[in-house]
Amino acid sequence: MRAVRAICFAVAGTAIAGTAQAQGLPPGKMRDTVQAACSNCHPVTRFTALRKTHTEWTQTMNSMIDKGAVIGDNEFAPLVDYLAEHFGPGKNLGK
Ligand code: HEC
Repeated sequence: MRAVRAICFAVAGTAIAGTAQAQGLPPGKMRDTVQAACSNCHPVTRFTALRKTHTEWTQTMNSMIDKGAVIGDNEFAPLVDYLAEHFGPGKNLGK
């Protein structure tokens, strides 16, 4: 497990060096939206290493909106789907 994680970090480091834009967010149609909506107050690395269920990400999104995050009505559900898909329980770092 340790070795696998070390490899993930190495790959992520290379990817960030190659494309500064990637910022550790995995590809997906909501990636740019997450980058825009979730990086104003803290870097996206604040949450990319976390693993939460769909329900927990829904709670996190509501909590961020309470703190001042601006999420369009039609962006809320797809954003939670993206977070739960890529940062759900058992997902590898950054994959
Ligand atoms: C208006 C500012 C703001 C925006 C925009 C924002 N956050 Fe946060 N977020 C905070 C603050 C303040 C904290 C608490 C301080 C900390 O832990 O860094 C926080 C903490 C967090 C945490 C750790 C606490 C927890 O509930 O696990 C996560 C995860 C998180 N944010 C995810 C997100 C995501 C995902 C987005 C995009 C939808 C987002 N944030 C957008 C202000 C914001």
